[in-house]
Amino acid sequence: MTAPDLAMLYPQHIEQLLARTAQALQRGGFDHLVVPSGTLHYHLFDDRDYPFATNPQFKAWVPLTRNPGSWVVVTPGQKPTLIYLQPFDYWHAVPEAPSGYWVEHFDVVVIRKPDEALQHLPRDAARCAILGEPQSTLGAFVPNNPPAVVNYLEYHRAYKTPYEIAMMRQATRIGVRAHRAAERAFRAGASEFGIHLAYCQAAGQDASELPYNNIVALNEHGAILHYTERDHLPPKPARSFLIDAGGSFRGYASDITRTYAHDTGGEFQALIDAVDAAQLAMCDAVRAGFDYKQLHLDAHLALAGILKDFGISKLSPEAALETGVSNVFFPHGIGHGIGLQVHEVAGFAANDSGGTIAKPDGHPYLRLTRVLEPGMVVTIEPGIYFVDLLLDGLRQGPHADAVDWDRIAAFRPYGGIRIEDNVACTDGAPLNLTREGFAANAA
Ligand code: GLY
Ligand code: MN
Ligand code: MN
Repeated sequence: MTAPDLAMLYPQHIEQLLARTAQALQRGGFDHLVVPSGTLHYHLFDDRDYPFATNPQFKAWVPLTRNPGSWVVVTPGQKPTLIYLQPFDYWHAVPEAPSGYWVEHFDVVVIRKPDEALQHLPRDAARCAILGEPQSTLGAFVPNNPPAVVNYLEYHRAYKTPYEIAMMRQATRIGVRAHRAAERAFRAGASEFGIHLAYCQAAGQDASELPYNNIVALNEHGAILHYTERDHLPPKPARSFLIDAGGSFRGYASDITRTYAHDTGGEFQALIDAVDAAQLAMCDAVRAGFDYKQLHLDAHLALAGILKDFGISKLSPEAALETGVSNVFFPHGIGHGIGLQVHEVAGFAANDSGGTIAKPDGHPYLRLTRVLEPGMVVTIEPGIYFVDLLLDGLRQGPHADAVDWDRIAAFRPYGGIRIEDNVACTDGAPLNLTREGFAANAA
């Protein structure tokens, strides 16, 4: 995907945002949408700043992620305004003047001090829906985040424009390139820390630029769902490697997990292959009209079938789901929406005015309960893990006999398996951005 492609797709994207905004403002009874990019945050009692995180409502409009103190102002029927802070500052690098395919779609006003934004914001703050964090307050412009406006915009943000899919393809390309480097580092015997550095190097992004904290887990660490420690020495032997890491592209994220066995002829590799095959079938269910809650429950059945095939569970898939035994081995949701945020907003939205769709009973970690529709991009991330804490609970509970503890003991040293792709729902067959990315970047 080259810059001209993005230039071709952006006009339709902004038209869509303008149409959504007009509707959202009407719902809330406002005349203007005002979106600050955000401000720097500082460590407590210190002058050290945290990495800047742009307001997602801001980067939905412009591909800018390093511009605190800027604003987008939208008034229906008018060209939107970008108030762009390019401070007089000789301590820090100052953002370049805005450039690129998107600039012509805005009236751009460059300011040199944050307060100068006030001269360019609408006259009456009371007529504005101001979407931002409290720290972005400027004079009378206090973020009010009106639910009617936020609910509308966030609900519809689940439906990606072709421009956004193109941005996510780029984020995927970066993540895949780095995943390839990480696998090579694992096979070469690197530590978790070393693999992480190889990942960042290949992505061309440091940890604060990546869309989330890399999960780089060797051996038993694969059983810690959000393992973000990094041992500096490799374990001996290194049996398995689970990596959950993405890439960022101008504010859009990819979220990719792969699991590898050191011994590619062994039983853990066979378990990975079984999860991989099941995951591909789940990705194929990302189709318009399919209920994501059902996809999650079906994933439990598929994974419970694998547990039975491998002699880990003695229960039928239905019984494993019914008794909660499948939850012990697959203790998280099948996935979530993704886009401007790794965990995209409005996963439970029943409609664009604030209703919610409940999670299935007994499945508290599912992050998306909506029915899939064209344009949605979701992750599909089944896993099988050997988590001591959960296994202890199983051993002490009424279903201790439902599993073969010797088989569990054999797999425990490998930690766990997760395979995660980002899949776009279309009018027809699903578009698996991650598999497409790996196919284009042969190992
Ligand atoms: N990387 C976090 C997740 O997969 O949701
Ligand atoms: Mn992930
Ligand atoms: Mn994920």
